[in-house]
Amino acid sequence: MAGQLLSTGSPHQFLPESYIRSVKDRPKLKEVADDDHIPIVDLGCSDTIELVNQIENACRVYGFFQVVNHGVDAQLVGKLKGVAKEFFRLPSEEKIKLYSDDPTKKTRLSTSFNVRKETVHNWRDYLRFHAYPLEENVPNWPSNPPTFKEIVSEYCKQVRKLGFQLVELISESLGLEKDEINKILGEPEQHMAVNFYPPCPAPDLTYGLPPHTDPNALTILLQDQQVTGLQVLNNDQWIKVDPYPDAFVVNIGDQLQALSNGRYQSVWHRAIVNESIARLSVASFLAPSNTTNISAPYKLVGENYLPIYRNFTYEEYYKKFWSRNLDQEHCLELFKN
Ligand code: SIN
Ligand code: FE2
Repeated sequence: MAGQLLSTGSPHQFLPESYIRSVKDRPKLKEVADDDHIPIVDLGCSDTIELVNQIENACRVYGFFQVVNHGVDAQLVGKLKGVAKEFFRLPSEEKIKLYSDDPTKKTRLSTSFNVRKETVHNWRDYLRFHAYPLEENVPNWPSNPPTFKEIVSEYCKQVRKLGFQLVELISESLGLEKDEINKILGEPEQHMAVNFYPPCPAPDLTYGLPPHTDPNALTILLQDQQVTGLQVLNNDQWIKVDPYPDAFVVNIGDQLQALSNGRYQSVWHRAIVNESIARLSVASFLAPSNTTNISAPYKLVGENYLPIYRNFTYEEYYKKFWSRNLDQEHCLELFKN
């Protein structure tokens, strides 16, 4: 069954049955802790050892951090948010042309997470597209709003560069050579998700996105400044990740969990919705190329070479990820010798 886009323009008066979670699966919003935890890392810091230490601590303890002085142009970020919001304001007749429930389609507008598989829906519409290589993918991106392709291309380029810089720091923080993980990732894929969460009449009964881990290597997320929604699990406690001025939220995905041989965890996170104001987030997912064999470097598995996880290709992994519900354990399989 095709999903129904939520961003239709008219406010929603009630939450349809198909979005209502069972009592035990609800977000329990009153139990969520305030954000005085998630580290803010200043990438402008000139002391590399200090920077690597901060990244190590953030990745090991939280799997999540925010970065400032990240080198992505602030004006461009403003334009990106503007054009993304404009896209979701387009008339339904225009948007529906891009609609698809097929996760293998490289550019598509969809709703919830995977309407073909899931039993309960999520209060989100999203536009997904591949961004690398740009020349190959941009022609398939939305041509309305007319400035979409130009603004988003430039944004993707700058965020990709930031991704490589972060992966270098993460590599060093694991005691590896600076370029070691980037070398393993090969010529990484870059997938984008523009998430739009309309005001929701019953935010305590549903999710924008239910608890999940990200299947890729590293996620760089731009959040709306005015409205919170992202929450991260730490020691069994959900914590709000409040938008920090001009920052990106960065998190470890399943591939870095495997490549770090479990030293860094791909942490559970979720997006909650609210009654009064629409929320936008834009995720850039850096992922290994499809044929990359994911196996932890020798230095991280020790002399007996006993990796925690079984080797796999990213293609294999990604297929598995889309064949199931979002709110399930990651698809990494333990290595058996
Ligand atoms: C995501 O987990 O991919 C997005 C979360 C958010 O919208 O904050
Ligand atoms: Fe996510």
